Amino acid sequence: MPDVIVTENISGPAMDSLQQEFQVLWDAMLWKDTDRLEAALAEARAIVVRNQTQVTEELITMSPNLRVIARAGAGLDNVDTEAAARRGVTVVYAPRENSLAVAELALGFMLNLARDITAAHNDTKGGNWNRSQFVGSELSGKTLGLVGFGRIGQMVARRAKAFGMKIIAFDKFLPADAPVVNELEAAMVSFNELLQTADYVSCHVPLLEDTRHLFSVEQFNAMKEGAVFINTSRGEVVDEDALYDALVANSLRAAAIDVRETEPPGPGRFDDLDNVLVTPHIGAFSIEAQQRVVTTVCNDVRAVLTGEDPVSVFV
Ligand code: MLT
Repeated sequence: MPDVIVTENISGPAMDSLQQEFQVLWDAMLWKDTDRLEAALAEARAIVVRNQTQVTEELITMSPNLRVIARAGAGLDNVDTEAAARRGVTVVYAPRENSLAVAELALGFMLNLARDITAAHNDTKGGNWNRSQFVGSELSGKTLGLVGFGRIGQMVARRAKAFGMKIIAFDKFLPADAPVVNELEAAMVSFNELLQTADYVSCHVPLLEDTRHLFSVEQFNAMKEGAVFINTSRGEVVDEDALYDALVANSLRAAAIDVRETEPPGPGRFDDLDNVLVTPHIGAFSIEAQQRVVTTVCNDVRAVLTGEDPVSVFV
């Protein structure tokens, strides 16, 4: 019976080593197969997941030998960390390892939407040469509003500054006089002021009870006419119906969303709109970030199972 179960596509040299040292059940689709998942958990001492597997209290309770839950990523919204703590199960994760990849994707979205690169590409591939149809705008001189000014928000700010953007940010956990605010020449503002002022709004908050549908009808209505909205955080932070309506009404000029309220999303939604870019939750998926993520969590699983101290423990 397996010692370690891996329920999603988590691979690389660090995973290969783990598989040599322990009995590992590796199945990228196991998260969908509740019966097999529960049967495997009857014996396993470790479970390694991404964001699809819901590690609920019920699942933890039916795993008598479980010592460690490893989340190959930063977000812990799919892991019941309180239930794990109550049952003495250690939760390890990768809180820093993929931040840069997410920040770079947000910048990629901004550049893409400023110059309409995807639309121009598709049009040109269609045999056209419509130069005058694709007159974009520059990021330089525009105001970037960062909702959430933690590690990823700050990485986006640092890079956007190099493009000549003015940075404003809202983060209810970060004091306005924090040294990084000064260093990045950012202005900390209220959420409402940010919505009313920013040309680009990029969201970098975790999914918590009070961030669910943080962006809904009222917030999209408050945004500056012609603003661009970017979400590389969590899909549930955005009310997709409200976003859809704002894009149809053109009150938002465009949006780019890497994350969805339901993943994978049902067919159809946003397909009829030209002013939205959609990607399948790939923010963390750079080769480099995934190497860091998988190495961190595999090392920590090994540490827990061999009685050593893990490095990235959620407390
Ligand atoms: C994260 O939480 O680290 C990213 O969203 C990537 C993921 O969920 O796998």
